[in-house]
Amino acid sequence: MGDKKLLIVAHAPSENTQRLFAAVGRGAKSDAQLSVTVDMLSPFNTYPEDVLTSDAIILGTTENLGYMSGALKDFFDRCYYSVLEKKQGLPYALFIRAGHDGTGTRRAVESIAKGLRWRPVQQPLICQGDWDDSFADQCHSLGAAVAVGIDMGVF
Ligand SMILES: Cc1cc2nc3c(=O)[nH]c(=O)nc-3n(C[C@H](O)[C@H](O)[C@H](O)COP(=O)(O)O)c2cc1C
Repeated sequence: MGDKKLLIVAHAPSENTQRLFAAVGRGAKSDAQLSVTVDMLSPFNTYPEDVLTSDAIILGTTENLGYMSGALKDFFDRCYYSVLEKKQGLPYALFIRAGHDGTGTRRAVESIAKGLRWRPVQQPLICQGDWDDSFADQCHSLGAAVAVGIDMGVF
């Protein structure tokens, strides 16, 4: 149990995307010295309380029809107003699995996060194109970097 909480909310409908989600989580938990608790949830099971009690959030989604997944959009739709006033400045990061492009998804998530006044603390990670095993390594690094950042209070 740590003093800070990192929430990872990702839609992972395929084997590949589950690998990415798991890698982010493993990265976030990789340094046992950190005082960070990591919660990993499907967007469908994420509620305002989960966000209100978090010190940072990592969002993950597939690109569907050039946009974020319906699951992640549902999370935003349900939680937006309940967290809007209370979590301004929340550090966040984003990973996207896109076969084709990923920029539409990135734009869509960034626009909602901007509306919430959340603060990006890493470059969005777009795992784009044919599957590459290095995507999981990049997701691991993303999780580790965000966990260290909140533990050290640099975000
Ligand atoms: C309704 C629907 C729409 C999709 N649209 C896109 C899309 O616009 N761009 C894209 O790269 N992949 C699209 N996909 C594919 C998913 O993003 C894919 O599941 C994801 O990239 C994971 O890929 P992988 O598990 O094959 O690596 C779509 C999937 C569904 C179910």
